This record gives sequence, C-alpha cells and structure tokens, in this order.
Amino acid sequence: MSEEQPGSRVTINAAFLQEIKADHQQLKELLDRLRNLSQQPQAMPNHGREYVDLLQKLCDQLALHFTLEEAYGYFEDALESSPRLDQQAGMLRAQHADLFVLARDLADVAGQEDLESLAVCEKLAEQFHAFDNSLKAHESAELNLILAALEEDLGVGD
Ligand SMILES: [Fe+2]
Repeated sequence: MSEEQPGSRVTINAAFLQEIKADHQQLKELLDRLRNLSQQPQAMPNHGREYVDLLQKLCDQLALHFTLEEAYGYFEDALESSPRLDQQAGMLRAQHADLFVLARDLADVAGQEDLESLAVCEKLAEQFHAFDNSLKAHESAELNLILAALEEDLGVGD
C-alpha cells in the first residue's frame, strides 16, 4: 500500500526541514545584529569583541547554510524539468564560494584591526554593507530561480 499521490514528486524530510529552518533563523539573527552594529560605526568601538565574534559566527553559519542549500539539491529537484534554468543555477551555486571568502576575509581583517579606532570601524562597516548587499542579491536571485523552476514544474501560464 503506497501513500504516494499520483503526480507528487516532492519528498520532504521533516528533520532536514527543521535543520534548514534553524539555519535560517540563526543566520537571520547574526545578520540582524551585524547590520545594527554596522549602521552605527561610532558605537562599534564599544562592541569590538562582539563584532569580531559575530563575523566569525557568520562564517560558520554561512558554511552550513551553503552546504545545506547544495546538499538539499533544491536546484537539482526543481530544475529536472527546467534545464534551461540550469546555467543560472550553476552561476548562483558558484557564488557561494565567493560570498564565503568575502565573509571570511572580513572576519580576518576585523580580528586583526584596532576596533577602538572609529576610522577602522567605519571602513569595516562599509565593507560589511557591501558584503550584505551581495548576499541579499544572491538570496533574492535564488528565490526567483526557485519560483521560476516551480512555475515551470507546475505548468503555470500554460
Ligand atoms: Fe545560496
């Protein structure tokens, strides 16, 4: 006896979904805190150690986040019926390494700099904003790709 419904191709692993949900929540909290601190570089000298810690945690979380995205294979599953989107998916997947290097470099620099200096904090805040904008653009492009793939899969617009 099978509970599989005709036409149903998506299988969902509850434990895996829980891990993805926890990852998203932790990533969001780290980014929110870093955004808050980076918006007020004049207050950063009082939070130098925390800023460095947050950046290091961000690197670890991003590594997990990207691994989950790649392991989950949302591209593969969604794109099986949409090979024309495959090139875009490959491009987005390749951005993971670049984004991770940006975050790691930022954490390394922050760890070596004198965060009592306002000039240093302003520069770091600026670099964080640039990284944050790249990450937002990446996440947004991924979401659009998934939606496009799902639309093709569902035959929306046919
Ligand atoms: Fe991604």
